[in-house]
Amino acid sequence: MSAFAYRDGDLYCEGVPLAHLAMEVGEPLYVYSLDEVERRYRPYADAFPDALVCYAYKANSSLALCAWLHRLGAGADVVSGGELRVAQAAGVPGHRTVFNGNGKSDAEIALALEGDVLSINADAVEELERIAAIAERLGRRAPVSIRVNPGVDPHTHRHIATGVTSSQFGVAIAEAEDAYAQLASFPSLAAVGIHCHIGSQITQLGPFVETVDLLADLARRLLRQGYPLRLLDVGGGLGIDYGRWQGADPDASHSPLTPTALADALLPRVRDLGLRLLLEPGRSLVAPAGVLLGQVLHLKRGADTTRVVLDTGMNALIRPSLYEAYHAILPVRAAPTAMTVDVVGPNCESSDVVGRGRALPALASGDVIAIMDSGAYGYALASNYNSRPRPAEVVVRGERWWITREAETWDGLLHGQRLPSV
Ligand SMILES: Cc1ncc(COP(=O)(O)O)c(C=O)c1O
Repeated sequence: MSAFAYRDGDLYCEGVPLAHLAMEVGEPLYVYSLDEVERRYRPYADAFPDALVCYAYKANSSLALCAWLHRLGAGADVVSGGELRVAQAAGVPGHRTVFNGNGKSDAEIALALEGDVLSINADAVEELERIAAIAERLGRRAPVSIRVNPGVDPHTHRHIATGVTSSQFGVAIAEAEDAYAQLASFPSLAAVGIHCHIGSQITQLGPFVETVDLLADLARRLLRQGYPLRLLDVGGGLGIDYGRWQGADPDASHSPLTPTALADALLPRVRDLGLRLLLEPGRSLVAPAGVLLGQVLHLKRGADTTRVVLDTGMNALIRPSLYEAYHAILPVRAAPTAMTVDVVGPNCESSDVVGRGRALPALASGDVIAIMDSGAYGYALASNYNSRPRPAEVVVRGERWWITREAETWDGLLHGQRLPSV
């Protein structure tokens, strides 16, 4: 069951026709279903009843969604001062927040310490010294986990594979014990856990199992050596089935892993450690809960290809351009398939292609389409490229809806800019 479905020819988000939202608010527009977020969160909470599920804000740090996930019981995984501020504004207490990232500024480390986060996850031994100095200056003891790179291939797009040996993230597992020894040498640091995140859009159980076995071995060794660890953070990464709507991208159409399958495989492997498990899912919670609505500007007929030109593209949703990611494109008014087209954005880049070779109805200027599964790494990666304002955001619950973020404006883009007095 999905929050997005056709009823009498209209594509709905829960009880609200998307065409109605497009008319009332205007496109481009992000629309999110709160019920879908809840449907995606509950299986995690049920499968991991003793774990802290920290929603990865990088997937979508829109305040409305973060506050909703907090209300559902999720903690926060943040990677910047900005994301920490959103978590605080959403009401997430520090003790349910982890601070990640491979390049934290001094100001961000101080903000995390002052916000009493559960753990600062250090990405490198070189970072420990910086965290220690800031903690000392603030008269605090920083709770630190080390991000361990297990050297496991998650079988996903190379841009989102982070646990492989060649990635820039974490401390190689072979060097992890030395890193904990260094951590212990700083009086202003306390070793509280082990962190890991092997990648995103993972659709196989094997890489998680391999990783957790390696982490559990490391944890046993560190616990034997007397480190007072409390946390085992296995990161996020569960994939979703982007291909489920229509003629699927074969790489994306594997049946996605469920939190239950993950729990069944992982929990028996870590139970004896006595550590609190943390998870950091992002995509699997919010991607299927969001769509990006765009308007057809016109059709451009070429010798070989007809192109549908939209009013939105890589500026609002960069995944297709960045990763050649597949997103289904559906008309908000159902009609029989009539043409095979490339759907392109309005930006001056040949990579601004939202979808190639798509079977769609006979679209015309002014028609509205929905780019499906855009709730994760959509708005969060949107830019002002070509000086285009970012779209508005709407959340839907049942038959009610709210504009939770106004669209940016052309004038707004000039805000804060000044001419030099040359
Ligand atoms: C450290 C960390 N945790 C969690 C996530 C969330 O991953 P996903 O959205 O695939 O669940 C990411 C994403 O890259 C990450 O880098």
